[in-house]
Amino acid sequence: MDFILREWRRSDAADVAKYADNEKIARNLRDVFPYPYTLKDAKEFIDDCLEEDDFLMFRAIEVDGHAVGSIALCRDDGMYRPRAELGYWLAEDFWGKGIMTEAVRRICKEGFARWDDLLRIYAEPYARNAGSRRVLEKAGFTLEGILRRNVFIWGEVCDSCMYALLREDMSPAGD
Ligand SMILES: CC(C)(COP(=O)(O)OP(=O)(O)OC[C@H]1O[C@@H](n2cnc3c(N)ncnc32)[C@H](O)[C@@H]1OP(=O)(O)O)[C@@H](O)C(=O)NCCC(=O)NCCS
Repeated sequence: MDFILREWRRSDAADVAKYADNEKIARNLRDVFPYPYTLKDAKEFIDDCLEEDDFLMFRAIEVDGHAVGSIALCRDDGMYRPRAELGYWLAEDFWGKGIMTEAVRRICKEGFARWDDLLRIYAEPYARNAGSRRVLEKAGFTLEGILRRNVFIWGEVCDSCMYALLREDMSPAGD
């Protein structure tokens, strides 16, 4: 399905409040992700995305003129500066159409191109999040390990996974 990755706009707030307000999304993200998700939450999120910061790359996923998801790279600093964390969510109406796999490929390509000293992009889905794990595998990430009993989220202790894509895992064409 066709989509574009683009920078956030304040006018996206109503779409974000509509699509992010979903327990199935919140259950798979960090506990800082609100549920219920209000218009105020959406406005604050977009304000954060619009702040100038050379260590962050926030993108809206746009389908037919609407912001239906989010994908981001957040670089770590100090001794961890070779790496960036990848995070994402997509509106449930658009699941299963290949959008996030392609969005992950595109933002990784853009991240490695923008930051010469970025060597590693990683993501930490919960072990039970089969859809997200499949996205990462399809996008070329390697499962490096399962972190057993690593988090307490939504009232349960969960394992989480460490997936990573290294710069050298990308083909010379950046695919
Ligand atoms: C995870 C998420 C981003 C996937 O986005 P998407 O655009 O539907 O992903 P894609 O269509 O590119 O690929 C999904 C793959 O997972 C598979 N999948 C989905 N649910 C699955 C499940 N329960 N068990 C096994 N495979 C599953 C799909 O079949 C597909 O694989 P295939 O192409 O081999 O058939 C989306 O479901 C989402 O936003 N979930 C809630 C938030 C979230 O989990 N964010 C990630 C946190 S780490």
